[in-house]
Amino acid sequence: MTSFTKLSDQDAPVISVHPSRRISKINPNIYAGFTEHMGRCIYGGIYDPGNPLSDENGFRKDVLGALKDLNVPVVRYPGGNFCATYHWLDGVGPKDQRPARPELAWLGTETNQFGTDEFMKWCEVLDTEPYLCFNFGTGTLDEALGWLEYCNGTGNTYYANLRRKNGREEPYNVKYWALGNETWGPWQVEQMTKEAYAHKALQWAKALKLLDPSIVLILCGQDGTASWDYYTLKHCLLPAHSALSTSAVPLIDMHSIHLYTCSNSHLPNATAPLAAERAIEITSSLIDLARIENGVPPSQLRPTICFDEWNVWDPIRAEGSQGAEESYTLSDALAVAVWLNVFVRKSRDLGMACIAQSVNVISPLMTTKDKIIKQTTWWPLYLFSKFMRGWTISAHVSCGTYEGETAPKWLRGTVDTPWLDVSASLGEDGYANLAVVNIHEEKGFETAVEGIVGTAQVFTVTGGDVMATNMKETEEVRVEESTWDGSGKYVFPKHSLTLLRWKAE
Ligand code: AHR
Repeated sequence: MTSFTKLSDQDAPVISVHPSRRISKINPNIYAGFTEHMGRCIYGGIYDPGNPLSDENGFRKDVLGALKDLNVPVVRYPGGNFCATYHWLDGVGPKDQRPARPELAWLGTETNQFGTDEFMKWCEVLDTEPYLCFNFGTGTLDEALGWLEYCNGTGNTYYANLRRKNGREEPYNVKYWALGNETWGPWQVEQMTKEAYAHKALQWAKALKLLDPSIVLILCGQDGTASWDYYTLKHCLLPAHSALSTSAVPLIDMHSIHLYTCSNSHLPNATAPLAAERAIEITSSLIDLARIENGVPPSQLRPTICFDEWNVWDPIRAEGSQGAEESYTLSDALAVAVWLNVFVRKSRDLGMACIAQSVNVISPLMTTKDKIIKQTTWWPLYLFSKFMRGWTISAHVSCGTYEGETAPKWLRGTVDTPWLDVSASLGEDGYANLAVVNIHEEKGFETAVEGIVGTAQVFTVTGGDVMATNMKETEEVRVEESTWDGSGKYVFPKHSLTLLRWKAE
């Protein structure tokens, strides 16, 4: 958690960090990924058979290598909007017998050459956990139960045997399952009302947990600030073993929310992820409210928030049906750093966060036939995933604020937007880490940093100006390493992310 005191722009900023004040555990799953059958994410992204850069499974080794560097704990699949017409049975069994189908989310053709078994294999190679999303559009509960049985069944039953026939003896033990994706959205095949969705989600959850009570079920929320979120939580967060729910286990374990931020102006762009912080706070309150109103006993595990789509994305400049290939700038990298600061600050409430997406589609990683490019947004993700783990610790920032327009507009009346956006963590290794994003385009801030002991390692991500990009052949935005002896003040350079790291325990 980071608290804030607003100063005038003439006052010198101060940051105080308290490594001994642990606030909450950071769930490693906040560094989760997302791969959808969309654009070049699967085909030409993670799966590119015949390419010299691919392994014997057809998996791009350079993509695997980069994602290994990020230590990605969970990957969501197969969508996204794609799920709403996806029939998982089309994507298993002999490849030459798999049907090609029209794909209605992004208006392409789905060849089904990559399906459940390929994804599970890819997860094994990457050493990550799968997170699957059910088809709440054209799919049936029977189909969903069949998929769960195919993945997790251990008995002598039809779909478990089909998995064995397809070459996989042991169950995959898929833990995370989503009850649909953005079912509230008008773009969705089979858009639903909140009442219809909540009813269906609860009925599906009951059956799915009867089949496998060990799974984690994720309710489809909106953006955390909508009446959809209130209604679905109220309807579905029920006490187990009660008149409302005879289930032996809680039916809903997490609530999913999505948000993409963007603006063509730098400061609204860099501050926009603060909307996610407010959304997390509101969702967290809605979870408590539903539990209070429904009499859920405190002993029943409190659901966490699954922010399973987040990123900077302007769907006008990078249209979904054109593959949503964003060309990110330094401004976007700073926005991603603010996003990640939000997740560290809000670690108490977050069970998972999936960057949308992991490769090519609105992604920090881009492939061509013969190489992989690390976009500007790669660097904050890399630094946070490497260092901002363990515990969120207390930090206080005193500095001036940006006072202009925000995106969304409601943010301006809701939260402060400081020039220095900060989070701090303490790792299991006893190292404290302080992430500071200076969003100012022209001004470095000479700042007193209290709480640092001894010499700090310094990682700085910046570039020539906020429009710098890595998509024009040269890597204009990257990380520079240095040290600071901890004495005097530290100047956080204009338009930069700085991560300071020192031995605290
Ligand atoms: O991540 C791209 C798309 O954005 C997803 O398919 C959908 O869930 C969201 O609208």
